[in-house]
Amino acid sequence: MAQPCFKASAPGSLMIMGEYAVLQGYHALVAAIDKRIAIEIIPRTDRIIDIDSNIGKYKTTVDNIQITAPFEYVLTALKQQKLNAGCNICINSQFSHEQGLGSSAAVTVATLAALQQWQKKTSELMAIYQSALKIVHEVQGGGSGADIAASLFGGLIDYCASPLQIKKLKQLPKISVFFSGSKTTTKEALKKINDRDNSLIKKMGELSHDAIQALNHEDLNTFGKLMNKSQTCFEQLHLSTPAIDSIITQLKKHGAHGVKISGSGLGDCVISLGKLENTETVNPLLIELSNNGLCKNFSKDYRATNKEGIVQRIIPHHDTKKTVGRAYAPSNIALAKYWGKRDQTLNLPMNSSLSISLADKGATVTVQLANQHRVIINKQLMEINEKTTHLIDYLQLFGSGYEVNIDINIPIAAGLASSACIFAALVLALNDLYQWQLDNKSLSILARLGSGSAARSITTGFVEWHKGVAEDGSDSYAESLPVDWPEFCVGLCIISHAGKKISSRQGMQHTVETSPLYAAWPKAAENALIVIKKAIAERDFVSLGKAAEHNALTLHATMNSAWPSICYSTVETFQQIEEIRNLREQGIDVYFTQDAGPNLKLLFLEKDKQLIQKHFNPIEIISPFRRQDEQ
Ligand code: PMV
Repeated sequence: MAQPCFKASAPGSLMIMGEYAVLQGYHALVAAIDKRIAIEIIPRTDRIIDIDSNIGKYKTTVDNIQITAPFEYVLTALKQQKLNAGCNICINSQFSHEQGLGSSAAVTVATLAALQQWQKKTSELMAIYQSALKIVHEVQGGGSGADIAASLFGGLIDYCASPLQIKKLKQLPKISVFFSGSKTTTKEALKKINDRDNSLIKKMGELSHDAIQALNHEDLNTFGKLMNKSQTCFEQLHLSTPAIDSIITQLKKHGAHGVKISGSGLGDCVISLGKLENTETVNPLLIELSNNGLCKNFSKDYRATNKEGIVQRIIPHHDTKKTVGRAYAPSNIALAKYWGKRDQTLNLPMNSSLSISLADKGATVTVQLANQHRVIINKQLMEINEKTTHLIDYLQLFGSGYEVNIDINIPIAAGLASSACIFAALVLALNDLYQWQLDNKSLSILARLGSGSAARSITTGFVEWHKGVAEDGSDSYAESLPVDWPEFCVGLCIISHAGKKISSRQGMQHTVETSPLYAAWPKAAENALIVIKKAIAERDFVSLGKAAEHNALTLHATMNSAWPSICYSTVETFQQIEEIRNLREQGIDVYFTQDAGPNLKLLFLEKDKQLIQKHFNPIEIISPFRRQDEQ
């Protein structure tokens, strides 16, 4: 079943006339702009609330909603709803929240509209207005609600707070908008105003009233003059700044008639009547007034859950910007492993995992357009057969003909995560070819569609892959832990270069289906991840080694108990395990991990490098946190 997604978007706004006076019951003019904030809410089955926006991330649970910046409005809205389940919230804003363009009202209105669809509550506009006003008052301790009205209804509005009047005007004058370079909150600006200023505020109210009349008579000339008069009031209230004064002087020099502050002053934007092109020193923001208000839209299958749809949603265009795209991605070794999928097509895992990227052990991929797909691995043209079809099918998601050259410096399909670095480098090379400039999260999601563990090969160091809960996998991606541990070493003991008999893809599915021990695996793996993360944070190597080795042994025991049983180990694997245990008995801190192949990966610290090198020959030692020339 497609995952429900509740979405809504609302425009930002500009105060045109009647600032401050609107708080005293005067009519104000407020207008919606053509830049919007969009919200998507995806319900979860657990109680977690996960907010992701262009200004930050925030994670909590429905039982512990603390009102925290910069998500005060969204969190207050969530708190008011008394939710029974958690959700993922994605916020996308087309404008800055630091320019006085009504972002608080817009985000509140959009959040309420999306929430009310989810909660199947009335989403009548006036009901949203009332709830939004309550939220804004709770967060700001006041506010006229004019910006909320504009975000809800769109267009240019004749607004009065008490008695409430929201009247959409027919006129939508052209306005140019200039950012003053700073913003002061209304609360702060209000402190500048005292009782003596009341007559000035009254005057601003009257000017606003006259401006509405002028607009109703389509008299833009008078309207401009009234704007100028309103600006004089701002100046007398000491709410202008040198930056604002200089913008206004410039604009007047360029023939602007009707120029004033929009908002509470001491920053924010300057608006000017009519369309003004760039002047020498001040450039307008790319903003116009707009008739569109809140846009609600709920579609059950809005989020594609097939690979093609997901790729199309992520990639911004199909125009190649270069003739050849090129990139390198490291291989990675999981310390808390992934085994078993909740979605086999999208490679969505049953459990989160954590890996270490292998620095210069990995794949370099170049990609260019061709008449048909051709894959060359280490200078050898691959036949299109059963083994390569997976890669070809993956390429097809992006275009119908590529020549892909893969240069890989680790054995292929021997449990050394060759597919991880190949798919990750391929995605990075495509990103280079098309110059998509995707962020690591999107790149990780795209790489995951090729091979699960590839999600972790987009970045370096310790990497955590969040299993996610969304059906389309939009929250299943990997990210680096901000950790540097120069002494940390990984040793690759290559017992066999031979490809594995059972691919990890088949092996994990077979384990999920037949192993009586599999039920315990996801929990055990998640626990290992917690212990390993803590050990990394505390640079506690012994705890890390123990937890990683135990996790690998648990994994192989689970596979062994599948039927027919899966065993990737050979006699040499067991001999090496014995050797490692012997060394540990002698007080050497060395541990191992093992993936879907016979080769062991040793974990140890730099101080034991020489000793390990002597005991395990051949061995390739990698220092993931050291530059090559340092090793
Ligand atoms: O992503 P795949 O299909 O290569 O599977 C990787 C499985 C393991 O290497 C055993 C574990 C892991 O987390 O990398």
